[in-house]
Amino acid sequence: MIGEDPLAVLRDRRSRAALASPAPPRGELQEILHAACSVPDHGRLRPWRFIVIEEAARGPLGDAFAAAHAEREPTADPAELQRTRNKALRAPLIVVVVAAPRPHPKVPVWEQRAAAACVAYGVVLAAHVRGLGAMWRTGWYGEAPKVRAHLGLVDGEEVTGWVYLGTPAGPEPAPRPPADPPVTWLS
Ligand SMILES: Cc1cc2nc3c(=O)[nH]c(=O)nc-3n(C[C@H](O)[C@H](O)[C@H](O)COP(=O)(O)O)c2cc1C
Repeated sequence: MIGEDPLAVLRDRRSRAALASPAPPRGELQEILHAACSVPDHGRLRPWRFIVIEEAARGPLGDAFAAAHAEREPTADPAELQRTRNKALRAPLIVVVVAAPRPHPKVPVWEQRAAAACVAYGVVLAAHVRGLGAMWRTGWYGEAPKVRAHLGLVDGEEVTGWVYLGTPAGPEPAPRPPADPPVTWLS
């Protein structure tokens, strides 16, 4: 994928909402996660971890989404709950990037969250480099007690992103519209 200009890897990356099987095999995913952890990380705290939702784990995750929806909105009808359940099925694999910040005398929690966000971007970018499709999503259900319990999150941990991963499907996204970065030059 790397052509003449290595920066093209960053410029050309597009999120892929439509993702089909196959998911990357475990070995390749390990390489992606390994590469994604090479981020700026104040104090080398590595304040993140991954939860990989493989194909067969998506159904139970979707059930947890739906249970959380029913708890939050007891009047939700079955079709709405099904739509929520289906959010777990949008790709053959989901990498949940979890921020695990902890009190530190020099590294505030926001910096640790920022490092975890860099990792989530790293997963998306590494997937792109490998020719896979990826999309970073979030949602209220990441904070729902039933979903947190399903994932085994402990106090202080938070979902930074649900990175949906798979084989790109559907039409190629249009190229990103050119936009100059907002820069203030102090000369
Ligand atoms: C923290 C974060 C949360 C996001 N959550 C969602 C989301 O829940 N749903 C969504 O459609 N896009 C979400 N996005 C945006 C997509 O990941 C993606 O960036 C967007 O669709 C633009 O596509 P592009 O990456 O090709 O520019 C989120 C991005 C970030 C950084």
